[in-house]
Amino acid sequence: MVGGGEGAYIGGIHRFAARLDNHFDLIAGAFDVDAERGRDFASKNFIDRDRSYGDYVEMIAREQARGDRIDIVAICTPNHTHFPIAKAFLEAGFDVICEKPMTTTIEDAIALHELAQTTGRFLGITYTYSGYPMVHEARAMVARGDLGAVRVVQVEYPLEWMATGIELQGNQQAAWRTDPKKNGRGGSIGDIGTHAYHLAGFVTGLKAEAVAADLATFVEGRALDDNAHVMIRYEGGARGLLWSSQVAIGQSNGLRLRVFGEKASLIWHQEQPNELIFTRLFGAPETIKRGREDLTDGAGVRTRTPPGHPEGYIEAFTNLYSGFAAIVRARDEGRTVGPFGEGIPTSYDGLKGVAFVDAVVDSHERHNGGWLPLQFA
Ligand code: NAI
Repeated sequence: MVGGGEGAYIGGIHRFAARLDNHFDLIAGAFDVDAERGRDFASKNFIDRDRSYGDYVEMIAREQARGDRIDIVAICTPNHTHFPIAKAFLEAGFDVICEKPMTTTIEDAIALHELAQTTGRFLGITYTYSGYPMVHEARAMVARGDLGAVRVVQVEYPLEWMATGIELQGNQQAAWRTDPKKNGRGGSIGDIGTHAYHLAGFVTGLKAEAVAADLATFVEGRALDDNAHVMIRYEGGARGLLWSSQVAIGQSNGLRLRVFGEKASLIWHQEQPNELIFTRLFGAPETIKRGREDLTDGAGVRTRTPPGHPEGYIEAFTNLYSGFAAIVRARDEGRTVGPFGEGIPTSYDGLKGVAFVDAVVDSHERHNGGWLPLQFA
């Protein structure tokens, strides 16, 4: 692992997810921007002293020289470091799991995607929400035509945690997220809008063609947007509306997707992730629950406990990790990838996310909110 040290957020979730299905052990790392703090953290986490590194450059050099080198690295650092770290590991022949957004610029995203292709290494992106079983069920339902042709896609990701200027009060996570050099051009849209965008595309299977955006910064002095409304035109005529907000008081983690087709609609809410609400034209809403035997294989393989025993965020993240393992193992053993590898986000999904943020910010900043085509969809 690179990053994810003392006081960090997502690194701990990666560690749970990597271990839950027994596909991975954590055996080496450069856990912190501060080498000493990183080594302390490694020792608390029972990492061998000779595999606890001061930085990722040392980690690559020393791991490369070992017979038992790591198979894959998880990059859990702030956005601006993803590109140099992922590039260096790919070039050194390692597979990579990289946090979203994949890079802070479109140029870097294109370069990293191409590097993954030319090196033949795996580059997985942790779009967490595509790991949920009921998100896979929703995707399968749209694909088999349960909703008919999709007409309208509403996706929102409201959060309240940055409703005040906490970046000036010592909050580590907010500090780099509000610094354009570290976060990239898109504030809320880059941080959580990318999750919402990926989720909408993942479930509907629709390619987005163009965006028109209105961004706002409500907290005084903040350099990046903390609220974004984006209209999306999808292939085939479907229309989308995406809202990301870091100032939505009362919303802990309110990611919600609603898809309306010509025959039916469905709703998935991240805070009730074990359920899908499905409604046929003029029908009563039906609650479809995780764990039911008549669900599709995509949901079934990603389910561990029976209905009524809730599964959540850690299991969804685990499903991504188990998908990464399935893809890498299938490649190395010359087998076809099983159901766990299906729909796993890779470098092209990372590139699409960065292209989306770029077009959204351009629409707002340079085109007065006008329509812009998406370069990668
Ligand atoms: P954080 O600030 O809590 O942790 C960052 C960690 O990276 C710290 O331990 C820091 O010391 C370390 N670090 C920074 N530069 C480093 C370097 N050059 N070498 C080694 N370590 C370094 O940040 P947080 O919130 O955990 O976010 C990290 C990444 O994860 C971001 O890209 C963010 O967008 C993404 N993220 C993804 C989520 C998801 O649902 N997939 C949820 C939250 C964050």
